[in-house]
Amino acid sequence: MNSHDYIEQNKQKFLDELLDLLSIPSVSADSKFKKDVLKTADFIKSSLEKAGVDKAEICETAGYPIVYGEKIIDKNLPTVLVYGHYDVQPADPYELWDSPPFEPVIKNDKIYARGACDDKGQMYMHVKAFETMMATNSLTCNVKFMIEGEEEVGSDNLAIFVKENKEKLAADIILISDTAMIDNDTPSLTVGLRGLSYLQVEVTGPNRDLHSGVYGGAVANPINVLCEMIASLKDENNHITIPGFYDKVEELSKEEREALNSAPFDLEEYKKDLDIDDVNGEKGYTTLERTGIRPTLDVNGIWGGYIGEGAKTVLPSKAYAKISMRLVPGQKSHEITELFSKHFKAIAPKSVKVKVVPHHGGEPALTPTDSVAYAAASAAFEEAFGKAPIPTRDGGSIPIVSLFKDELKLNTVLMGFGLDSDAIHSPNEHYGIFNYMKGIETITLFYKHFSEMSK
Ligand code: BES
Ligand code: MN
Ligand code: MN
Repeated sequence: MNSHDYIEQNKQKFLDELLDLLSIPSVSADSKFKKDVLKTADFIKSSLEKAGVDKAEICETAGYPIVYGEKIIDKNLPTVLVYGHYDVQPADPYELWDSPPFEPVIKNDKIYARGACDDKGQMYMHVKAFETMMATNSLTCNVKFMIEGEEEVGSDNLAIFVKENKEKLAADIILISDTAMIDNDTPSLTVGLRGLSYLQVEVTGPNRDLHSGVYGGAVANPINVLCEMIASLKDENNHITIPGFYDKVEELSKEEREALNSAPFDLEEYKKDLDIDDVNGEKGYTTLERTGIRPTLDVNGIWGGYIGEGAKTVLPSKAYAKISMRLVPGQKSHEITELFSKHFKAIAPKSVKVKVVPHHGGEPALTPTDSVAYAAASAAFEEAFGKAPIPTRDGGSIPIVSLFKDELKLNTVLMGFGLDSDAIHSPNEHYGIFNYMKGIETITLFYKHFSEMSK
């Protein structure tokens, strides 16, 4: 039987298995799901074994384990290292889901569950593509799997694992499905990811909560001050005002910008999908440029004072915010964190104290388009979709990609099958059955083209 037929015939089995995987709440950020995260690692290990790896193991780390598996058919053949993550983002707010996030359902040919697209659905396509090639005797490369459980919390332990296991992880190329494509008729390959600098700020005013009538107007309100400070971080052109922030940003040539903007993009559709009357971003750049090649700064959460029912007249002692900056090639996460901290403290009025606590970060990444692996991925998409994929720059971050380059000296191919409308990290996350099945097929074609082109 050929791969295509095997995939067709096993469609229901492939779907059922994914639904089982999605029903385990592997939320890495919340320790109340610890047992489930560990159970998910076991699920992945046994799925690799059933699919036909020579060996699969649970590699313990200081945090959640990394599942490793390999099938070495011939040391002289090229080796593909597949990376993915089995952890998911918290499903909150639960009340905004139309069906429970860990009780996957299929509606309108889409699978609804937390992790359906990011990244269980996309990661599991690789296990099923591997199973397909084993079952149809068509695997022509060596394969290694490294599936982690801490991507959504910064991959700190994976970074250590990679540094300590360079030989074990030796390969020719890294293959990842954890990004998006333009739409189901317009395949694309991601060639750039943004980096990240994430921190929490704390503004303290008076030493205790005060009566807002007795003291209001005379003592700094830390929430008011925090809002003013945050507002000042961007000017009227949505340019970030932190000194030095743009110093190392690599500017693209006119030709590169034209190429980027020639990708299909419908601004009206984009606004309609989000129910917004206008977009908003840095002056002088298109929407695709704003998310693809420009850095930005966003408040992810802000709190303080009284938010319970009714009204409480209070001038709070403290205010907090979680702030992220997306970075582009040239910028370094720790340098930007440093610049932010310095600036944020410098702009604080004397009436408050400011604390900046860095969280995780990650470096931006660019993947080459002139490699054998890129050509193989491109050929695979062309064969599966009937159209060559368009290179795109995604706004999200997969910090481990730059680490693979630095530590393992390996390039990555980002073969994503998600859609921006899949609601990853949001309520009602979903993944198209079309994308899941087409992804499995495209992955098998990648191996075929990669081994042929490597000869
Ligand atoms: N899969 C995403 C990253 C992504 C999404 C890249 C869409 C391109 C398109 C990944 O799981 C993720 O969410 N990464 C985090 C960073 C991490 C350090 C928490 C992100 O981008 O916020
Ligand atoms: Mn992901
Ligand atoms: Mn994610």
